[in-house]
Amino acid sequence: VKCIGILTSGGDAPGMNAAIRAVTRSAIYNGLQVKGIYRGYKGLVTGEIKEFKSQNVSNIIQLGGTILKTARCKEFTTPEGRQMAYDNMKREGIDALVIIGGDGSLTGARIFAQEFDIPCIGLPGTIDNDLFGTDTTIGYDTALNTILGAVDKIRDTATSHERLFFVEVMGRDAGFLALNGAIASGAEAAIIPEFSTEVDQLEEFIKNGFRKSKNSSIVLVAESELTGGAMHYAERVKNEYPQYDVRVTILGHLQRGGSPTANDRILASRLGAAAIDAIMEDQRNVMIGIENDEIVYVPFSKAIKNDKPIKKELVNVLKELSI
Ligand code: F6P
Repeated sequence: VKCIGILTSGGDAPGMNAAIRAVTRSAIYNGLQVKGIYRGYKGLVTGEIKEFKSQNVSNIIQLGGTILKTARCKEFTTPEGRQMAYDNMKREGIDALVIIGGDGSLTGARIFAQEFDIPCIGLPGTIDNDLFGTDTTIGYDTALNTILGAVDKIRDTATSHERLFFVEVMGRDAGFLALNGAIASGAEAAIIPEFSTEVDQLEEFIKNGFRKSKNSSIVLVAESELTGGAMHYAERVKNEYPQYDVRVTILGHLQRGGSPTANDRILASRLGAAAIDAIMEDQRNVMIGIENDEIVYVPFSKAIKNDKPIKKELVNVLKELSI
């Protein structure tokens, strides 16, 4: 491998820029040429590609979003689109790819790598933390901290008005942000997709004591068709427990923005450097993850399996501490 291409794809996540910087600088340090590909796979299909030197990634470690921009690309889901992407890569002399993104992006990488003989290395970049084989993902810690800041503020109103707030957080079909966000913000409960078929989480929450001792409450609800979202629970409470004064806050995209935390910057820097190590070792078609503070290589097929488990211990901690 002489020249690598780097792209960010799918939803942006804080720390993506730190990862771009790390991949670029580590590649140059190891004698490789680097090309930045704009707008995710779209830039590969349309040839929006630019050579990156060390100074192209100066002053970006602290920035949210992604300087390479990102997109969810339809063309790349077709064989014709991927052929165009491959042709552009060859034209640019790119012989390996580093893809920073979530499960959709790594799924794309997996298909591309199967069709063409191109080493692809993935970095887990998503606030959702829903990639299997890594303890955490780039952007997750920052999003959690953003949720804390928001819930701390909502708590003032919840307490003053003695209200029950349902705060909807992102995560797609994963409950990590909701569960850990609830623990860290001292919320009374989290409603997460992982348990949505097992128990009626609203009933549990009400039964477990909403209002034995407190007259305000905050419940974090993970967005997902499986939970039905915060509005759904607010409607239910209005109908089933009209004595409670209910409000809903949907945090939305403010969870995706902002300057990355120290943890996310360090994670992105380590994973970015490890991506280049992997390329130098002739690894291909793996996501770089972190497990017990050690770098691990996770085959794409495993990373995108979509069944990263939620620790029961965390569920119990939340329950015990919200009495
Ligand atoms: O994957 C990151 C994420 O923010 C999810 O939590 C959310 O479901 C989705 O992206 C929203 O996507 P978009 O920004 O395209 O609406």
